This record gives sequence, C-alpha cells and structure tokens, in this order.
Amino acid sequence: MSFDLDHYKQTAKAVDVDDIDFDDFRDQPLSDDAIRCLHYMTDVETHTVCYLRDLLVTPSHQNPRITAFLTMWNFEEYWHGDVIDRILAVHHEVNGLPRHRSVRLSQGFKGNVVTPITQCLAAAVVGEDFIATHMTFGAVNEWSAHAAYGRLIELERHATLTKILQRIQQQESRHLAFYMSEARERLEKSRKAQRVTRFALRRLWAPVGSSISPKPETRFVLNHLLGGEGGGKIVKMLDSKVDKLPGQEGLSVVAKAMKAFGVRVAAA
Ligand SMILES: [Fe+2]
Ligand SMILES: [Fe+2]
Repeated sequence: MSFDLDHYKQTAKAVDVDDIDFDDFRDQPLSDDAIRCLHYMTDVETHTVCYLRDLLVTPSHQNPRITAFLTMWNFEEYWHGDVIDRILAVHHEVNGLPRHRSVRLSQGFKGNVVTPITQCLAAAVVGEDFIATHMTFGAVNEWSAHAAYGRLIELERHATLTKILQRIQQQESRHLAFYMSEARERLEKSRKAQRVTRFALRRLWAPVGSSISPKPETRFVLNHLLGGEGGGKIVKMLDSKVDKLPGQEGLSVVAKAMKAFGVRVAAA
C-alpha cells in the first residue's frame, strides 16, 4: 500500500513535549555516554536542512510528491534536534544555534561546495533513477536513526528520556514508511535503479552522521549503540531490511561499516 502523503502533510508537526518536565534531567542527569550520543544525534537532526540542500540539486527536486514529503520531513527533523538541544541545555552542554553553525562551518570547502556540486553532477548523469537511490538511502538512515534511539532508551533506562525519544521514534517511523514505499516501488520498476542503488550502497553508504562528525565521535556512538551483544542484533536486523529491497540482497552494508570504524559487533 502506498504512503498516504496527504494525511502526512496534514499531521506533520513538531514533536510534542508540552507535558515534559525537562527539570527531571536536573534531578536525574543522563550518563556522560548518553550525552555524547545526544550531541551526535542533534548534530545529525539539525543538519537535515543541509542534507536537503544537497538533495534539491538532484532529480528528486523535479518530483513534487518527493519535495512535499521532504518539506515536512525537514520540519519534523528540525524539531527533533531542538528537543534534544533542550535536554543538553539542562546538562549545561553546548547546544543550539552556535553549535549548529560551528558544525556547518566545520564541513569546510569539501562539505559545503564540493559535495553538493559532485552530487548534482552524478545524479544528473544517472537521471530519474537517482530518486530510487535517494529513497533507499533515506530508508536505511531512518531505520538506523529509529534503532539508535531505541538502543539509547534501552541502555539509559531514564523515564523522561524514554518518553521523548519514543515520540521522536514515532515520527521516524513515518519517515521510514515514505522512503521505503518509494524505494521499493522505484527499485521494482527499474533494473538500472537497482544496479545504481546497489553500487551506491556498496561504495558510498556510510552511517548517518559520519560524514559531518569527527571520526572518533562516530566510532564512539557506533560502539556504544551498536557494539557488543545488544548491538549485534540491531546490525543484523538493519542489514536484513536492506536485503529485502529489490536487487539489494547480500550487501551487509551496516556490518561492513561497523568493521570500517573498528567497532566489534557480537554475532547475533
Ligand atoms: Fe529525526
Ligand atoms: Fe527521520
């Protein structure tokens, strides 16, 4: 069944935290490890508008169904970052606009100029089938984000954090539903889309956030959330989801990325 975009458009909203008492974090602060993960997570969430910039120079921008979704998606992701920033603020951590700006500036000439230009050119060469690759990457990244929040909930066992992250997860699930339905439909229709996407997953996919964060931070977050016993199950689950997309079986992209970052994943 295809995704009900009209319903999504009407119901997209800032994640609701009106009933959350952020002072709970003063009484029961989060662990240092959780804080470090939340920094990484909010950097990713608040960078969504920049990922969007890089996607609007591709054939995805010619499809009004895709851009309607991306408009709402960007809005919701913005608020995910904002809410996480509020948690960090209670812990007296750097957060908000100065932090977002420093992340953007740290991308330098490569991230701010070379990446959008090369993405624009490569996508133009591929043409319409590029959208299948974009949708597939979107699906993998939403699966990863959902799983990462779930794992942080499990590790931290903090009632207020759980409430907030579960609400974020609900929105990530809707993003995932859109990306997955579009990816599946487009991959089913085109062998070329399957080949291009397979190539891109194998050669270009990297854990969400790894392109904008310092390597040690990515390694820490991957290790904390996806390493060891508990993480092994998640890595396997993520790779099995990719396996089920038309023409994308047997890639093990997530397991390979863990290895590339030196993360030891326990056999599930
Ligand atoms: Fe998000
Ligand atoms: Fe999302």
